[in-house]
Amino acid sequence: MKILVTGGAGFIGSNFVLRTRRQRPDVDIVNVDILSYAGNLENLKSLEGDKGHVFVRADVADRDAMERLFGEHTFDGVFHFAAESHVDRSILDASPFVRNNIQGTQVLLDLARAHAVPRYLQVSTDEVYGTLGPGDPAFTETTPLAPNSPYAASKAAADLLVRAAVHTHGMNCVITRCSNNYGPLQFPEKLIPLMIANALEGKPLPVYGDGMQVRDWIHVEDHNDAVWCVFDKGQPGGVYNIGAENEWPNIDVVKAILSEVGKGEDLIQYVTDRPGHDRRYAMDSSLLREELGWSSARTFEEGLPATVAWYLEHRDWWERVRSGAYRAYYEAQYGQRMGV
Ligand code: NAD
Ligand code: DAU
Repeated sequence: MKILVTGGAGFIGSNFVLRTRRQRPDVDIVNVDILSYAGNLENLKSLEGDKGHVFVRADVADRDAMERLFGEHTFDGVFHFAAESHVDRSILDASPFVRNNIQGTQVLLDLARAHAVPRYLQVSTDEVYGTLGPGDPAFTETTPLAPNSPYAASKAAADLLVRAAVHTHGMNCVITRCSNNYGPLQFPEKLIPLMIANALEGKPLPVYGDGMQVRDWIHVEDHNDAVWCVFDKGQPGGVYNIGAENEWPNIDVVKAILSEVGKGEDLIQYVTDRPGHDRRYAMDSSLLREELGWSSARTFEEGLPATVAWYLEHRDWWERVRSGAYRAYYEAQYGQRMGV
């Protein structure tokens, strides 16, 4: 079996590639990533020399490059992780989100259809559903789409393009919508790795607004396990929520990190809130559990300390990201080889 993974140098995508090579060695992977600021080839260092993993630096929104790629390989499936993923960046400039997340998805759908790829999985997010009040029931797959940030709107648009490809062209697509991920290799602009790194360096921990926004955290390995489960068993055209029923106010996450790192709460600094900040996310993933038999394997009580320990042990990894040194590593290898 050969699959195309997009965004496989980012946080979730690289964990997915490493996990798949570990657990399904019969699955060959072509990994296409543009290596934006969020892509880090150092995540994939352990795969150097692995013939079952081919890395290609290319842009999924570049139709010519994707045509060449689909012409060179016969794929049994597409796993589309690549995206601009950070809400704060989408507030500053929505354009890359429109291009990479929406146009990129349509290019991949077109190529997957033209080359009769038998299965296409779109990695989406709970943010397409908008925000919840404190007593509201969790999002289900039938909750209306109501995205609030440019990032979430671009992901919702991409989901609708996938829906249209199923309805109009009869494509065999599935969509997964997951809650907030945490774990190794997460770019330290996102809440958990940012707070760990700042705490370790004795820098202030910026908490937006009152810190009482709620996120529903899931370990990246559980997310990726669910992605394979949906790929293997999901109904064609199906949408599946992924979550671990693990809601936490941000401030409690920050305090738990400080306690794990052994630093005081005086490092907490309340800062101006994110514009349009969604108050609460919560996922109802009973469809995934009941129809496909999936369940999460890790609790936050185990997963958060293990994640803090990973960042402690891999200080060099995030220090090279924060200093920009990680870019020199991949520019040296791939800088001259844009496109397929
Ligand atoms: P990330 O920002 O860490 O990684 C994204 C990767 O996509 C990067 O390596 C980047 O270089 C690549 N990329 C971006 N545009 C590209 C393009 N045009 N062509 C090729 N590659 C491109 O993101 P992540 O957190 O790993 O998220 C991966 C996917 O999962 C995204 O689709 C995101 O919307 C979704 N998701 C993320 C979370 C989360 O908590 N992080 C939760 C649910 C869903
Ligand atoms: O819910 C899934 C989504 O989770 C994914 O689709 C996104 O790609 C991913 O980035 C994430 O979005 P969030 O906006 O929820 O994640 P972030 O880590 O940016 O922020 C988590 C919460 O912490 C949010 O309420 C904002 C807050 N926050 C974040 C940062 C970076 C702070 O209070 N301070 C910060 O410095």
